[in-house]
Amino acid sequence: MIIPILVSVSTALVSTLPLLLILDVSGASGATTTTATSMSMATGVAATAAACNNSPSLCSRAYTNVTYMGAHDSPFLRDASTGNSIAGDQYYNATVALDGGIRLLQGQVHDLNGRLELCHTSCALLDAGSLESWLSKIRHWMDGNPNEVVTLLLVNSDSKNASAFGGDFEASGISKYGYTPRSPTAAASSSSSSSTTTTGGWPTLQELIDKDKRLVTFIAPLPAYSPSYPYLLDEFTHVFETPYDVKSLDNFTCNLDRPAAKYSSVADAIEAGMMPLMNHFAYTEITSDIEIPNAGDVDTTNSPSNTTTGALGAHAQRCESEWTGAKPVFILVDFFDRGPAIDAADALNGIQGKTMGRESPGQSSTSDSAARATSSMRGDMGTTTRAVALVAFCAVALVIL
Ligand SMILES: *[C@@H]1O[C@H](CO)[C@@H](O)[C@H](O)[C@H]1NC(C)=O
Ligand SMILES: *[C@@H]1O[C@H](CO)[C@@H](O)[C@H](O)[C@H]1NC(C)=O
Ligand SMILES: *[C@@H]1O[C@H](CO)[C@@H](O)[C@H](O)[C@H]1NC(C)=O
Ligand SMILES: *[C@@H]1O[C@H](CO)[C@@H](O)[C@H](O)[C@H]1NC(C)=O
Ligand SMILES: *[C@@H]1O[C@H](CO)[C@@H](O)[C@H](O)[C@H]1NC(C)=O
Repeated sequence: MIIPILVSVSTALVSTLPLLLILDVSGASGATTTTATSMSMATGVAATAAACNNSPSLCSRAYTNVTYMGAHDSPFLRDASTGNSIAGDQYYNATVALDGGIRLLQGQVHDLNGRLELCHTSCALLDAGSLESWLSKIRHWMDGNPNEVVTLLLVNSDSKNASAFGGDFEASGISKYGYTPRSPTAAASSSSSSSTTTTGGWPTLQELIDKDKRLVTFIAPLPAYSPSYPYLLDEFTHVFETPYDVKSLDNFTCNLDRPAAKYSSVADAIEAGMMPLMNHFAYTEITSDIEIPNAGDVDTTNSPSNTTTGALGAHAQRCESEWTGAKPVFILVDFFDRGPAIDAADALNGIQGKTMGRESPGQSSTSDSAARATSSMRGDMGTTTRAVALVAFCAVALVIL
């Protein structure tokens, strides 16, 4: 049975946070859902030249002239490990995402008794383990994939400082890959004499690979830059975002949402060298205060189609048009395997059908998506009596980046 409770809590980020707590007293909540996950090699061309981020043609491109497909809330899974929690935004973890070509991993970091922990909204509700452990797994993947450039975007939910994050980056061993741009405390073009505003100051993928500085890390926000951890960058010094709280597939826009007030328009932000991040995930509104990730429509949301309302391809094409040719550098999606989302990035990068070295999680149909969501909901409504998971939906914190 479900016991919905509306409460308000305070956090450093949002003063009032409406939460719906669902006390799940069912048995194997959603655990009966089975997922056919055939692993198959993506079709690719023969390896005639070394690929950078799955394509030889990306090697000579500036970091800022590539579109990276990203997994929003990457650590927060809707799979067996969480009892198919409907607070989860992804069906597959970060390692599977990287194998499938995802090159941007986003997550929320909280303070759990002094330890940095990956938690969705709150650690009591969805705790995906320590930041250090997760970073170790990313480092392990990067060790085995030396031609790949990876970007992290970590939401600093409890306003921790650079040394708190830096400690985990060092302990996990991933700090050795950390890239420090020429001017870490200013957007690219303001520190560069380059004539191109969007590439000023940032090297090519090949240069990052050659130096083995293949990890770009943004923290949202980083309270103060620390020269001791120079590779930890404040997101909103380098990146601007489109709106993230979208509740209808016809409501994706290309407007500047954050950093608020710093730039008067997208054009100003791009002129200043800010890299665009296009948020492209939708929520389903249960009540006016409660939203959950919209899994039912995700095959549309993540579609590479340029003509379907709400599709990833159409949203990106609209932004490129409104931004007079500038493409999103970063895109965040839920359930990255659907669409599959990576196809839209390949189209933007001009490499569709020509990638190599990917291993994609099995694709499944829209009906399976609906069935999975339904099954998950049904699981929460089960009647057996194991008092277990407290699942939280949060109208605000769930979507904070
Ligand atoms: C970005 O890469 C494309 C494809 O190589 C190239 O045509 C374009 O000139 C580059 N843009 C910038 C600003 O360097
Ligand atoms: C993802 O799952 C696989 C298989 O369980 C595991 O080996 C890997 O470490 C996981 N990666 C992350 C980032 O949790
Ligand atoms: C960073 O935060 C820690 C507590 O998390 C504190 O001990 C330390 O003094 C802070 N460092 C700086 C440079 O503010
Ligand atoms: C789209 O957003 C606007 C506000 O920007 C709102 O007025 C409108 O109702 C939304 N449309 C839908 C279908 O939700
Ligand atoms: C969408 O448009 C892009 C160019 O903006 C093109 O490369 C791509 O093939 C198109 N995708 C589809 C699915 O039509």
